[in-house]
Amino acid sequence: MDWTGRHLLPLLHVPDKGLLSNVPQLSDRISSSFMLILVISVGLLVLVTFFMIYFAIRYRRKRHPEAEKVKESLALEIAWTVIPTILVFIMFYVGWENFTPLRKAPPGAMTVHVTARMWSWQFEYENGLKSSTLNVPVGKSVSLLINSTDVIHSLFIPHFKIKEDAVPGLETKLWLVADREGEYNIFCAEYCGQGHSSMLTKVIAMSAEEFSAWYNQAEDAKDDTKGPVPMNVQELLDDNGCLDCHSTDGSIQVGPTFKGIYGRKETVISEGKEREIAVDDAYVRKSIIGPDEDVVKGFPDVMPSFEEVLSSDEINAIIEYLKQLK
Ligand code: CUA
Repeated sequence: MDWTGRHLLPLLHVPDKGLLSNVPQLSDRISSSFMLILVISVGLLVLVTFFMIYFAIRYRRKRHPEAEKVKESLALEIAWTVIPTILVFIMFYVGWENFTPLRKAPPGAMTVHVTARMWSWQFEYENGLKSSTLNVPVGKSVSLLINSTDVIHSLFIPHFKIKEDAVPGLETKLWLVADREGEYNIFCAEYCGQGHSSMLTKVIAMSAEEFSAWYNQAEDAKDDTKGPVPMNVQELLDDNGCLDCHSTDGSIQVGPTFKGIYGRKETVISEGKEREIAVDDAYVRKSIIGPDEDVVKGFPDVMPSFEEVLSSDEINAIIEYLKQLK
């Protein structure tokens, strides 16, 4: 943290809507608010602690065995009521002025739907394009509408100084604008179970041209005149967070490994009873659509359904992929 006065300077300005279109200034304002509140809090802590220790020594029992009536001081009482009240209102005002813009995207922002699930992030764009990274064009405001399919997660992007919970059944909001190209970490900041620490991804800020080339890939895929786009199953699995729980190298993670899974005999728990199955097309499809029906013994029943997420072509491609993964 930078302790120069630079952080306190933006507070002296009257809030100006123009400032909000610029990330460094918006995040500077957040830093300033944070610094101001920190300085006031530390000041009060030091003051209170100092007097506490001072009075404990000065009025210790050895020197004052008999309690005496203390003379009241109206001026002192007014001072210690009014000054902290003013400080609290300053903190409230600064907090309000600088934190509320975080929830209100400027008009004309590009909308991205963010879905959190155990244990991956998915970003869906206005044209239906889905991505496991948050790709954004430099200089354009991006409004994030955040949701969760299972438990509470929290979208945390430290570079932009923004964080918001992802709550099932509730849409929360954030927005950002990248001022230069680069990659910035995204974390889940709410403990959400075994795979919490693997809920990592990135904001990828790219030039407007690069972004539109990437963004239009969905349109190209829909356009049959360009021929079928071969499906990259590895990428599909990665984008949907499958690989956060299922390894492809035989290692045991949250769920069974994909390596050699096709044709494997497994003991599954179906409605509380154990039974033996062999992994075939039907079992893979069922495990994607209704993962809680036949849970492989020894693994937690935590996988969400991908019924609304994966198309049947995609599921077929995954089945073919698993057949080859010996
Ligand atoms: Cu999701 Cu922690």
